[in-house]
Amino acid sequence: MENIIQTKLAHLTFKSPVFTASGTYGYADEYDDFLDVSEIGAIVTKAISLKPREGNKHTRIIETQAGMINSIGLENLGIEGFLEKKLPVLRAKNIDFIMNIAGSSMEEYALLGEICSQNNIKAIELNVSCPNVKSGCLEFGVSADSLYNLVSKVRENYDGFLIVKLTPNVTSIEELALACKRAGADCISAINTLKGLEVKFELVNGKFRKTKVQGGYSGVGIQPVALSMVNRIRQAVDLPIIGMGGIYTLEDMLKFFAVGADAIQIGTANFTYPDIAKKLQDELREYIIKNNFKDLDDLKNKIRTCFNEQ
Ligand SMILES: Cc1cc2nc3c(=O)[nH]c(=O)nc-3n(C[C@H](O)[C@H](O)[C@H](O)COP(=O)(O)O)c2cc1C
Repeated sequence: MENIIQTKLAHLTFKSPVFTASGTYGYADEYDDFLDVSEIGAIVTKAISLKPREGNKHTRIIETQAGMINSIGLENLGIEGFLEKKLPVLRAKNIDFIMNIAGSSMEEYALLGEICSQNNIKAIELNVSCPNVKSGCLEFGVSADSLYNLVSKVRENYDGFLIVKLTPNVTSIEELALACKRAGADCISAINTLKGLEVKFELVNGKFRKTKVQGGYSGVGIQPVALSMVNRIRQAVDLPIIGMGGIYTLEDMLKFFAVGADAIQIGTANFTYPDIAKKLQDELREYIIKNNFKDLDDLKNKIRTCFNEQ
């Protein structure tokens, strides 16, 4: 039977445009009790670094009125651990996945790219919101020049599908998207979390106590920012875009298609609704059939045309 939600991003084909976002889906095995993960478009792994990382010791997650703040500190089992323990499971279960990678220097990213190539990892997503330790902790993803150098270096070493995940914490997202294209990226994903802070106080015997988390803001509250960023990237470059930020419903997903996303990722919503990716994927298919669109591309073209009309 024809798959009407099949999604092509440049030369790579996915069974649907619904992916799960890095850091909110582990390495997929955590979700086995809720759904057959191999049925969703793709999962993006938690960021993987060269060496294992323990992550932050302090409070890592706090809810806000419209989303959450996390400060996980990139806890992960390192590339060797991933190759040994997680990759065989993903492959045995036939799960389509994208590996999210994070380094603290250009050399680390380049080496991770090389290892991914050697292990036939089909697609990687560069998390460029990591501090460049060698350049005084400035994030790689905030300067077009350093992003260009980083992506070029990874491109030299990695021959699979190269996605660069952009941070919204910048002045000109267009310049960064253009730098990615010039450096040979195949696809852009956006957005990573916004910088945020939440603090909650309680009075205990007349004295204040606080719980404070400063880190990445995600969830419903960031959706308008994400839509605006995806739209700006769409106008700047002709690369495929994977959009994300506060997606909880079919309507949210359609908005991302309208502003120029070719696929989407679901992040924070997974914590409340662990089967949401499969649910939204099914709803999308039903919506296309019920409303007599030819397929997903037809739907995307029509909603985009409507969005772009004066
Ligand atoms: C707890 C948590 C951990 C995350 N870890 C990563 C990560 O390791 N790498 C990455 O690129 N993005 C990470 N993100 C960002 C998400 O992948 C996504 O870009 C962001 O949360 C926006 O989407 P959402 O509003 O649907 O959650 C993380 C987000 C959360 C909430």
